[in-house]
Amino acid sequence: MLKIHNLFAGYGKVEVLHGISIEVPQGKVVTLIGSNGAGKTTTMRAVSGMIAPGAGEITLNGQRIDGLESYDIAKRGLAHSPEGRRVFATMTVTDNLTLGAFPRLTGSRPRGDVAADLERALELFPRLKERRTQLAGTLSGGEQQMLAMARAVMLNPDVVLLDEPSMGLAPILVAEVFRIIGRLKSEGVTMLLVEQFAAAALGVADYGYVLENGRISLHGPAEKLRNDPAVKAAYLGGGH
Ligand SMILES: Nc1ncnc2c1ncn2[C@@H]1O[C@H](COP(=O)(O)OP(=O)(O)OP(=O)(O)O)[C@@H](O)[C@H]1O
Ligand SMILES: [Mg+2]
Repeated sequence: MLKIHNLFAGYGKVEVLHGISIEVPQGKVVTLIGSNGAGKTTTMRAVSGMIAPGAGEITLNGQRIDGLESYDIAKRGLAHSPEGRRVFATMTVTDNLTLGAFPRLTGSRPRGDVAADLERALELFPRLKERRTQLAGTLSGGEQQMLAMARAVMLNPDVVLLDEPSMGLAPILVAEVFRIIGRLKSEGVTMLLVEQFAAAALGVADYGYVLENGRISLHGPAEKLRNDPAVKAAYLGGGH
C-alpha cells in the first residue's frame, strides 16, 4: 500500500504540489485526474524519487520512502513507468525487460522466477514478443511506451505508477493497454494510474482523485466520480 500525506514538491523555487494526500490500497487501482500542468507527473516523480519532495510523508507498506534515491525506492517495491517512453535505446527489448528486474537479480528484492516473468510479460504484450530481439530505440513510439510499462511490471512490484501509458498510441493499442491494465488488476497488482482518457481510467479504477493546480479538489469511488456532473464537464468530455 502506498500513502502520500501532505506532499509538497516542485522544481527549484517553483512549488507545484501544495500539500496533497493520496492513498493507494493494496490490490486497488487508483487514478489521478487533472488538466495539463496540474502536477500529475510531478506527483509520480516525487513518489519514485526522481525529484526530492519538499515536505510531506510518503510510505510504502508502512515504511517511509520520501527522500530516498530512486533505486532504493524501486528495491522496496515501487515501479514507475514514466511519461514519455524512457527506454534504453541501445539495448534489446528483452534486455530492457530484464533490467526492470535488476533489483531481483542482485538480491535486493525476492528473486522469484525472472525468466518465467519475462515470458509472461511478453505474452501480455504480443507486440513486444514479436520484437524481442529488436533494439528498443528502433521501436515505434507506441511500442516504446508499452516497453516502459512492461519493464515496470518486471520488478514484480508492490505498487506500479503508470504515467500516461496510452500516450501516442493508436486507438486500437489504447484499448489494448486498458485491457492489460485490467488484466494486471485482476492479478492483484496495485496501481496509481494517470491517463489522458479519464473516462477509461475511471472505468478500470476503484478510486479516483482530481488534482487542480497542485491541490486535490475532489476524491471518491471511481463510479461516483464518473457520474459527477463537474467531473464530467471538466474531464470526461471531448470524446474521452
Ligand atoms: N523539469 C521541470 N522544471 C520546471 N518546471 C516543471 C518541470 N516539469 C514540470 N514543470 C512544471 O510543473 C507543472 C506541473 O507539471 P506536470 O508535468 O506535473 O503536469 P501534468 O499534470 O503531468 O501535466 P500533463 O497532463 O500535461 O502531463 C507545470 O507547470 C510544468 O510546467
Ligand atoms: Mg504529465
